[in-house]
Parts: sequence; C-alpha cells; structure tokens
Amino acid sequence: MSNAIITHDLKKTYGKRTVVHDLHLRVPQGCVYGFLGPNGSGKSTTMKMLLSLVRPTAGEVHVLGRPMRRSTRRELLGEIGSLIEAPPAYGHLTGAENMRLVRHLLDLDQGQVQRAVQTVRLQDHLDKRVREYSLGMRQRLGIAMALAREPRVLILDEPTNGLDPAGIEEVRDLLTRLAARGITVMVSSHLLGEIDRTASVLGILAGGRMLFQGTREQLFSRSTPDVLVDTPEPERATTLAGRWNAVRDGDRVRVPGLDHAATAHLVDRLVHERIPVHGVRREEQSLEDVFMDLTGGRGL
Ligand SMILES: Nc1ncnc2c1ncn2[C@@H]1O[C@H](COP(=O)(O)OP(=O)(O)O)[C@@H](O)[C@H]1O
Ligand SMILES: [Mg+2]
Repeated sequence: MSNAIITHDLKKTYGKRTVVHDLHLRVPQGCVYGFLGPNGSGKSTTMKMLLSLVRPTAGEVHVLGRPMRRSTRRELLGEIGSLIEAPPAYGHLTGAENMRLVRHLLDLDQGQVQRAVQTVRLQDHLDKRVREYSLGMRQRLGIAMALAREPRVLILDEPTNGLDPAGIEEVRDLLTRLAARGITVMVSSHLLGEIDRTASVLGILAGGRMLFQGTREQLFSRSTPDVLVDTPEPERATTLAGRWNAVRDGDRVRVPGLDHAATAHLVDRLVHERIPVHGVRREEQSLEDVFMDLTGGRGL
C-alpha cells in the first residue's frame, strides 16, 4: 500500500518548546486516517506543517510520493483540500454565493462545484445564508469548499468538534464515502470515540509524540483486556487466579489486563485444578481503554 502523506523527523519548536517531536507520519492512500490526541498535543501544528501554513523547524514532508519543496509546493498543495479550525464560509452570504467565490478563486467549473455540494448533501440549502446554517451544515459547506477542486488528499482538522450526534454521524458517513472513492482523508479529533470506527488507520499523538500508528486491528491486538471466566466455583477460581489479581465479579471471575499467553496459562491452571470452566471471554475494549493501556493509565 503506498502512502499519500509521509513525514520524516518532522519537528516544530516554538522558542524553547518543542511541540511536535520527530514525527514519522504514514498516511496510506485511500483510507480515513484518524489523527487523535488531546488538546495541545500538536495535531493542528502538524496539519499546518503538511499544508505549508507553518514552517517546520526540521524534517520533511512528502505528498503523493514527492517531497514538498519550494519548487513543488504549489503543485502538491493543489492536490490537497483542507479545512483547518473554523469553517471558512462567510456568514452573510448564502451557501451558493460562498461556493461561487471558491469557484472564481480557484478557477473551477460549475460541474466541480455542483458535485462537491452534492457530495456533502447541501444542494437543497444553497439559498440560505450561512449564518442560518447549523454548525453541522457549516462544516459540510467547509468540506464542500475543500472538495471543489477535486483533491486527492483531504486534511480536516476537528470537523466533528461541537457537532451534535446527528451532525457527527453525517460527517463520519461523508468521510467513509470519500475514502470509498479513493480520496485519502486525514481527520483529527481530540475525542477518541468521535472518529473511532470511521478511521481504519490511526495515529495517536500525545505531547507532540506519536504513541501509536497503524491499523485499528494492530492497535487492539496490543491491548490487554480483562478476561471473564464463567465457573460454578468462582470462589476457588478467584483464589487460584490471585497471582493475576483476579477479583470475584458476581458469579464470574474477572482477571484484569491479560494478554493471550497469560490467558492460556490461566485456563491451563483452572483445568489442572479441576475447576469447571463454562466460558472464558476477553472483555470488549473501547479505544479509550486501549489508549489507557498505551499510556500506562494516564489517559488523555
Ligand atoms: N504559534 C504558536 N506559538 C507558540 N506556541 C504554539 C503556537 N501554536 C501552537 N502552539 C502550542 O503548541 C502546542 C500544540 O498545539 P496544537 O498543534 O494547536 O495542538 P492540538 O491541535 O492538538 O490541540 C500547544 O501547546 C500550543 O499552545
Ligand atoms: Mg487543534
């Protein structure tokens, strides 16, 4: 799989403070890449460096296989649509008027603008002033403005921020449809759950450093969930599993934070002691749980 965006040792320092440390981004083509991390972790700074809005202190950015340099910048930026921070539309103008501005500014044809508006499903709201739009509609208009030039890469900084659940769902659905068309979508959020299932590849940032980068499956395979054992003899089983810090949990035994090998060992011990085992289940983990494991319980 080739990468739409790659960085080598990308770094940003403000004064004496390094806010992005030696970042090696790998954003595979045609996926939704979830760029997750708490407020202040360096997501916006990184995205602005990708877009040449902030100058990196060190490191390199490659887009679609080519290095970003003064000589290539204009052409490469032409392949990237972006929405950074607040939606860019003018409130006193209608949706249609805003799109017309984009069309003239970027010298696009009417078809491109129409397709972008249809993609975000705003075609029936174009005659309304943007200040009467809901926040979700404004975000979608912002995405339409970014899409109009038909970019191969889309960079969206917290597009779900402040949206209600229905608005979040609309944005998620939109991102999935864009990726299905082959557009690479890099999307940030400070809330782990917000783009959790939409993103197939995740980059998790904390304090300007990448804690994890890879597929959801790779992330979850690293986690150590609680294991629940169903047995008619929970008391004996809890005592036996004491070395794994087991606790009785109703009629079951809960054993915290077990990897595969430890789980197998536990089952082996139970069977060896002739404790009937009716079921063994690894507890389903949320992204928050996995993140807690990664950060050693510090959380976001
Ligand atoms: N222009 C700037 N000057 C100084 N510090 C900045 C500047 N921009 C961002 N920072 C700092 O860099 C850190 C990362 O910020 P940012 O990239 O906005 O994080 P995020 O988008 O993840 O919330 C923060 O501590 C922020 O205060
Ligand atoms: Mg930010």
